[in-house]
Amino acid sequence: MNVADVDLATSAESPRAALVAQLREQGSLRTDRVTAAFLAVPRHLFLPGVSLTRAYENDSVVTKRNEHGVSISSVSQPGIVAMMLEQAEVEPGHRVLEIGSGGYNAALLTELVGPDGAVTSIDIDADVIDRAHAGLAASGYTSVNAFRADGEFGAKDDAPFDRIIVTVGAWDVPPAWVEQLAEDGRIVVPVRMRGLTRSVVFERDGDQLVSRSVEVCGFVAMQGAGEHDERLVLLHGKEIGLRFDDEPPGDVDLLNGVLASPRTEVWSGVTVGNTEPFDTLQVWLATTVPGFCWLAVDPELDTDIVKPANRMASPAVVDGATFAYLTIRKASSEPGTSVYEFGVHSHGPDAETVAARFNEQVQVWDRSHRGGKGPRVTATPVGAPDEPQPGGSVIRKKHVTLTVSWT
Ligand SMILES: C[S@@+](CC[C@H](N)C(=O)[O-])C[C@H]1O[C@@H](n2cnc3c(N)ncnc32)[C@H](O)[C@@H]1O
Repeated sequence: MNVADVDLATSAESPRAALVAQLREQGSLRTDRVTAAFLAVPRHLFLPGVSLTRAYENDSVVTKRNEHGVSISSVSQPGIVAMMLEQAEVEPGHRVLEIGSGGYNAALLTELVGPDGAVTSIDIDADVIDRAHAGLAASGYTSVNAFRADGEFGAKDDAPFDRIIVTVGAWDVPPAWVEQLAEDGRIVVPVRMRGLTRSVVFERDGDQLVSRSVEVCGFVAMQGAGEHDERLVLLHGKEIGLRFDDEPPGDVDLLNGVLASPRTEVWSGVTVGNTEPFDTLQVWLATTVPGFCWLAVDPELDTDIVKPANRMASPAVVDGATFAYLTIRKASSEPGTSVYEFGVHSHGPDAETVAARFNEQVQVWDRSHRGGKGPRVTATPVGAPDEPQPGGSVIRKKHVTLTVSWT
């Protein structure tokens, strides 16, 4: 089936074509080539035991959880798969490595590279590779080379690759990916930067990798050699969690009892409509505010002691014995309107100073970066002569130093 055969607007009788129409409309599918691949690949064959309706919803399907109930493998959400394939710009004849398997995306890639290309798909989990083999056999995409391996080390026997597409959350950019990338190749990877994941397209620029596009996404976390655990600080019993990507700044015991101190509240005057994205605000705060972390409230223990902008993950900051977080309030009292204003709540001995500083960064984002081109991310190998010094927008990883800049 190709795009011309399907009237996307009136194809609701076919679940696959209806999903494709939805992805086209929301902008996840932009090109005819990727659209045709989505029309061709039967996603339900990679989801045995899942209903046809569920298989063609724009939703991820969790296929494995760890002992704590955390999702460790899934068939990714079609909208995210589409967005990353559009970012990758895969061409006929390309050699592609997919890190994080399952079969569905490998089949889509096979459509995109055509008979002259090659797709290698690896997963750290043997069960996932078995599932991928079964789905690929059932759907006829038998040319994919799918095998068990830790993605940290790539797949050197099949290298070089024109595209490396990572479909698992990566904290770092290991050297094998760069070594196995063709000279004019592209890596598409969901990179975790201070607890925030963005799908970044990297291309080479000398010894560095430079981003060409940065998009919002969410993925299960990398296991194996590239695994990186967050640090969790609990407040008010276990009601409030502060998640740090690295070691928290200073002595977090100083925060004991901090919520018993009075709350300082400041408002930014920066407003947002309820359907308006503000993902670049999150990147701005995460990469410019020292002591940045994410605040989450346990829904079962929630006493309403904090009022974050998002109870599952709100930008926050710790500075000594003081902490502050992003909050939100309705900006207009007129019925029917849904415009919200950002503000900051803070507790602790320096609550006013820390809240003012955090609030100022919300205003800087609004004045200078809102609606702009978004962040540009550079990855420089650790130890390279031009490695940047640590600072507000410099994030040190084990293998690379990331610099986040704005134009
Ligand atoms: C979101 S799923 C991949 C979905 C897949 N691309 C598809 O077509 O549906 C992420 C996968 O990454 C795998 N994974 C986690 N850490 C890995 C690693 N170090 N190397 C390779 N695969 C890894 C997990 O086992 C999981 O199956």
